[in-house]
Amino acid sequence: MSKDTLSPDKLEHLHHLAREAAGRAYAPYSRFPVGAALLTEDGRMFVGCNVENAAYPLGLCAERSAVSAMVVGGGGKIVAAVVYTPTPTPASPCGACRQVLHEFGPQATVYSYCEGSAVAVHPLPTLLPEAFGPENLA
Ligand code: THU
Repeated sequence: MSKDTLSPDKLEHLHHLAREAAGRAYAPYSRFPVGAALLTEDGRMFVGCNVENAAYPLGLCAERSAVSAMVVGGGGKIVAAVVYTPTPTPASPCGACRQVLHEFGPQATVYSYCEGSAVAVHPLPTLLPEAFGPENLA
């Protein structure tokens, strides 16, 4: 997606949703709440937060939680993914989340917000070059 198709208002809304979602994170082990908000091609928005577990490896990241919400909400193509972390500088999605975002939005733009004023903006292909995707199974 080109950045100019996402208005500043819509981006700010997604940022707000991601921050709000982080407030609902279940992260008693890491104490690192993360929120994510997705925008689909047809304008719908979905949110997710990280959901940890006493069996640590079973914890789910915010981005994948948002993708699950999108799928159960009817699916769609992701054009923008906004992530909020409670850090002084922006943090990018982990590798697993990059791969899962690729499945539903290979050309999505990823925006990382944090407690500081910096915002990182990266096209997903930059974060996950030479990605493995559905076409590789054809
Ligand atoms: N986390 C996310 O939710 N998204 C990421 O992209 C990176 C990490 C979560 C996983 C775990 O619950 C906590 O942050 C600390 O790693």
